[in-house]
Amino acid sequence: MARKKPPKNGARKRRILALMHESLVPPETASAEQVAAAEWKTEYHVVKALRQLGHEVRPLGLGSELGVIRAAVEEFQPHIAFNLLEGFDDVPGWDANVIAYLELLKVPYTGCNSRGLLLARDKSITKKLLSYHRIPVADFAVFPRNRRVRRRSKLKFPLIVKSLTLDASIGISQASVVEDEDKLAERIRFIHESIGTDALVERYIEGRELYVGVLGNERLQALPVWELLFQKMPEDKRRIATERLKWSLAYQKKHGIDSAAAQDIAPEVMARIQETCKRVYRNLTLSGYARIDLRLDGSGQAWVIEANPNPQVAPDEDFARSAATAGTDFGALLEKIVTLGLSWEPTRWG
Ligand SMILES: Nc1ncnc2c1ncn2[C@@H]1O[C@H](COP(=O)(O)OP(=O)(O)O)[C@@H](O)[C@H]1O
Ligand SMILES: [Mg+2]
Repeated sequence: MARKKPPKNGARKRRILALMHESLVPPETASAEQVAAAEWKTEYHVVKALRQLGHEVRPLGLGSELGVIRAAVEEFQPHIAFNLLEGFDDVPGWDANVIAYLELLKVPYTGCNSRGLLLARDKSITKKLLSYHRIPVADFAVFPRNRRVRRRSKLKFPLIVKSLTLDASIGISQASVVEDEDKLAERIRFIHESIGTDALVERYIEGRELYVGVLGNERLQALPVWELLFQKMPEDKRRIATERLKWSLAYQKKHGIDSAAAQDIAPEVMARIQETCKRVYRNLTLSGYARIDLRLDGSGQAWVIEANPNPQVAPDEDFARSAATAGTDFGALLEKIVTLGLSWEPTRWG
């Protein structure tokens, strides 16, 4: 396919094709209140900020049709695609396949490459890879659907039961943490039958919840360690990011849920956590930007829970807020993400 050459000599104005779910294409203008409550909040902020930086941005809403990408690429000749997808055809995780398609079309893209997306989205593969590299992850077992639940004696209670494949804390509530066999079997059945996926059972790590942003392709930058705070959580409740905690403003208010740069962690522990997160990023072959989730136990040991390539990038979400704390405002962050996308070579493993 004939493509216009990108302007030479670091001309900074780019044609950017912003890929997003078709239901999340934002309006051209909206009031601050509308934006704050909108499902298309991230899309709106990203398109607006990229335009403010002088780029020519074309939002492209995707449903189940791949052809529209190719048509837009031929017609608009983007220098890069800004990837705001979390799936394709309403299958979570199929954004990896769209990125693989862009790789074949030789269109640069922001965020993670297709292989990194594939590895990091599978929590079981992620944990196997990380254990090989001696990165602390909680003991775990997978319980597939349609098979008899057999107890693995290696796993010590308390345990947490999650969906193997879904994110956004879908299926996670206070009842996900179990202390006995009956509750374990019940919760696995809930994931199988009500959530409709295989179940991942992990040792429950009591402790603080930390998030660390990482940016880069080869040279990596770890953002300040960020912490999810439970300021008014009753003592008898587990301090975990349940579905309600993530999505209900009323719940957040009631339990004093907030997040901020982590305080009162020794500098050497902080540095070790950031180093661990860079190793996670490398070992999962991530690129662009990601957020690593961890739990810090009472002995100062940090356990990696999961890696999130292409995390929520809206200015009021943890990733952008921790970047701002490190002196990178939202515009500069997006510019960095675009620059990383333009310099990534998808054929490096070819
Ligand atoms: N092994 C664990 N120990 C303690 N808490 C956990 C563990 N696994 C998950 N959690 C809690 O559940 C939340 C969601 O789990 P996570 O694996 O990050 O799923 P998601 O992809 O939905 O974000 C975490 O943010 C954390 O609060
Ligand atoms: Mg998570």
